[in-house]
Amino acid sequence: MDIFRTKSVEQSIRDTEAPEHQLRKRLTAVDLTVFGIGVIIGTGIFVLTGEVAKEMAGPAVAVSFAVAGIVCALAALCYAEFASTIPVAGSAYTFSFATLGEFPAWIIGWDLLLELALAAAVVAVGWSGYFSSLLTSIGVHLPASIAGDDPVVDVPAVAIVLILTAVLIAGIKLSSRVNLVIVIIKISVVLLVIVAGLFFITAANYTPFIPEAQSTPTVEGVQAPLIQVLFGITPVAFGVMGVFSAAAIVFFAFIGFDIVATAAEETIEPQRALPRGILGSLAICTFLYVAVSLVVVGMQRYSELSSSAPLADAFTAVGQDWAAVLISIGAIAGLTTVVMILMLGQTRVLFAMCRDGLLPRRLAKVHPRTGTPALLTAIVGVVAAVLAGFISLSALAELVNIGTLFAFVVVSVGVIILRRTRPDLKRSFRAPLVPLLPILSVLACLYLMLNLPVETWLRFLVWMVLGALLYFTYGYRHSRMTRAAQEQPEAS
Ligand code: ALA
Repeated sequence: MDIFRTKSVEQSIRDTEAPEHQLRKRLTAVDLTVFGIGVIIGTGIFVLTGEVAKEMAGPAVAVSFAVAGIVCALAALCYAEFASTIPVAGSAYTFSFATLGEFPAWIIGWDLLLELALAAAVVAVGWSGYFSSLLTSIGVHLPASIAGDDPVVDVPAVAIVLILTAVLIAGIKLSSRVNLVIVIIKISVVLLVIVAGLFFITAANYTPFIPEAQSTPTVEGVQAPLIQVLFGITPVAFGVMGVFSAAAIVFFAFIGFDIVATAAEETIEPQRALPRGILGSLAICTFLYVAVSLVVVGMQRYSELSSSAPLADAFTAVGQDWAAVLISIGAIAGLTTVVMILMLGQTRVLFAMCRDGLLPRRLAKVHPRTGTPALLTAIVGVVAAVLAGFISLSALAELVNIGTLFAFVVVSVGVIILRRTRPDLKRSFRAPLVPLLPILSVLACLYLMLNLPVETWLRFLVWMVLGALLYFTYGYRHSRMTRAAQEQPEAS
């Protein structure tokens, strides 16, 4: 049993050429950047900024965003190199198959379910929160059983997921047009916060910029961050360490640039367009995050920021209700594209896994009229809708972070391996300073992972064990690699 058999890069590219599994090539570097921004700017900046400034970093939350942005930039350079070398749907899954082998690739694909489908559900619930509060502000009150803090079924969350599933099935060009309009609204709102907010800044709010460190109430047991359990380091709020811990939380705000790589097969000239899309969207978002957070902590004292809608509420606090309503509308629009693209990325990763036979191949059929994997998209949509509708996901949101960071670690290691095993491959984009840069990327991601609670690690490990069981009971036997080996025993 060879679970570390790799699939050659050439084979990966050939697989995309089979007519029944061929996705249509329509996207450009600009489309990809728009996709990236569409999925990156979301709950992170619209919601987390307030809580994190208040509890962990003070006005220096802007520095936390910059730190998280730098960690992501290291990983993004690795993603960009991979995507320019293997422009095949599936992102980290495909990259691992070419370097580490089938089983690690399966594990990564399984891990990406945590990042993508789960995050789509989490963000849909956040969308529902903003939607309900906007309705409330115009006098429409939804019953507590279908919306709000603790509904029986979160109906707006289910509805938005299902509507977006239909948009995705209708075709990627339509999706990217819808996305473009919404991204424009979202960026306009973010720019509104930055420019209008400048007029309401009070310089005194920036002092102290990094509030003095305080020890937090002791967190014990499975709630404690792993770093505390392993090394006895007690987490502190504020101070320089607090600013770094906050980076592990606001990391969520950057999730998504890696999803650009999942659209590789639908891209015209992917070798050039993918690195531009990945690095471009990350750079734009990092700039906007640092600017927005600097403005918001200047408008309102950090200790008074709101936890649920800090951007809108900072304007309410300075008497500008009109801006607060506009920002809420922008947040709703912004979260819409986040959910949509997370689901798009999810279908593309599953698509690649089905095509390889690790999941049923018939699921990966491309619809002849729309050119999209319609059945798979519908399945992902229904699963995400059920998760969003019925399960309280706040605790599971940290699983999204750990799942994503794990994928970043594997991709960074993969870059070093592929440089050694296949130095001959054409790399239109080369990450600088290999192997130093990928090693730094691994260390930085591991550091952020260590800051997550023990229970998140336990859930993560349980999920991975389930994935391994599925591989050994189904995936290995149905894999195309197994079938190829049976047909030509000597070529295994
Ligand atoms: N980065 C995305 C967000 O902040 C997941 O919502």
